[in-house]
Amino acid sequence: MDIVDTFFSPSFGNRPSQLVGRDATIRHIIDGLASQPGSKERATLILGQRGSGKTVLLWELADQARKQGFVVATPTVVSESMLNRVIEKIQDDGDRYIKSGRGKLTGGSLGALGFSVGLQFESSIQETKSFGYKMLKLGQRLGEQGHGILILVDEVQAQSVELKELISTYLELVGEQQNVAIVLAGLPGAISSVLNNRVLTFLNRARKITLEPLAMGDVDAFYAHAFKQLGIQINSDLRRKASSATEGSPYLLQLLGHNIVQYADEHGNVNEAALDEAIESSRIAFEEEVCATTIAALSEKDVDFLRAMSHDNDESSLADIAERMGVTADYAQKYRKRLIDSGVICASKRGHVAFAVPYVADYLRNQE
Ligand SMILES: Nc1ncnc2c1ncn2[C@@H]1O[C@H](COP(=O)(O)OP(=O)(O)O)[C@@H](O)[C@H]1O
Ligand SMILES: [Mg+2]
Repeated sequence: MDIVDTFFSPSFGNRPSQLVGRDATIRHIIDGLASQPGSKERATLILGQRGSGKTVLLWELADQARKQGFVVATPTVVSESMLNRVIEKIQDDGDRYIKSGRGKLTGGSLGALGFSVGLQFESSIQETKSFGYKMLKLGQRLGEQGHGILILVDEVQAQSVELKELISTYLELVGEQQNVAIVLAGLPGAISSVLNNRVLTFLNRARKITLEPLAMGDVDAFYAHAFKQLGIQINSDLRRKASSATEGSPYLLQLLGHNIVQYADEHGNVNEAALDEAIESSRIAFEEEVCATTIAALSEKDVDFLRAMSHDNDESSLADIAERMGVTADYAQKYRKRLIDSGVICASKRGHVAFAVPYVADYLRNQE
């Protein structure tokens, strides 16, 4: 692997060598695993826009939870096959804790009944029993050895029947006093539909964590360290300009870091012209990969609202937006709420809104 890639790996789900600015969030969630089974701290929802770092955060949680002795079902994307995958991942990860071969022959433990080798089920169970039954068996067997189970779910979708089954199984395991925890990640809009879904109402009691933009100080410190290691010379004013151009987006941090290295001269020097070029090509890539997909997921009226906002610089007053759209303030209010739920905009000062995803305003302006 190229040394540059150890610092800057701008592609989705690629795990960077260092997670910038998420220590407190990670500690918070990992500490929660020590709480009583069934407590609020053991079920967490992570909300964030595309590129905010949900997937890489889940993988980091997997590593850290393993160090605490948890058996982890590594991030599974919500899909038709997810329940089988969750079982398989727990079996694979938990096998190292189950010393004996054939459970039956070791006599002793009752929990070993139903298993053939390690955490593999006997074929009668494998073929006939439900997901919930198997999960309870795994929970009991691992629990006997003092290990809990952490289930990680990515790209949550409210409509999924499998997700509903997973959540009801989680509640059953809690009822059976199993040592189990769950973390689910998704786009803000998807999480908000989950919370409005009758079957999934339990998740309203889960802990919610929004992945906020990274602090400028964290971005700048990371850039300073990475550029030094890579032999890139950039003065601190330009470096700060680069940090602020990321607008705290982890994905932009990766894109821009990568491009700065590409645009440096053969001695590793970066001047203002090179930096501006790096910022420009990062912006284009970000607009294509993040802005375009974000906009494509919205209704036409939602996009009209955003277009009306894009006339302003930092924030827009709701009154101006309504006027530009030619609609009443009440009407605009409805779209405001929807767009806030979907995480594309945020409330700023009273009666005002601002974009929550970098460069969406530029993207819309360029389209006009
Ligand atoms: N905390 C972070 N520090 C550094 N890079 C990050 C961080 N979070 C995410 N990234 C990078 O941003 C990109 C997008 O992350 P990803 O987890 O795929 O986002 P999401 O799942 O929210 O869309 C990846 O290239 C990843 O390496
Ligand atoms: Mg992701």
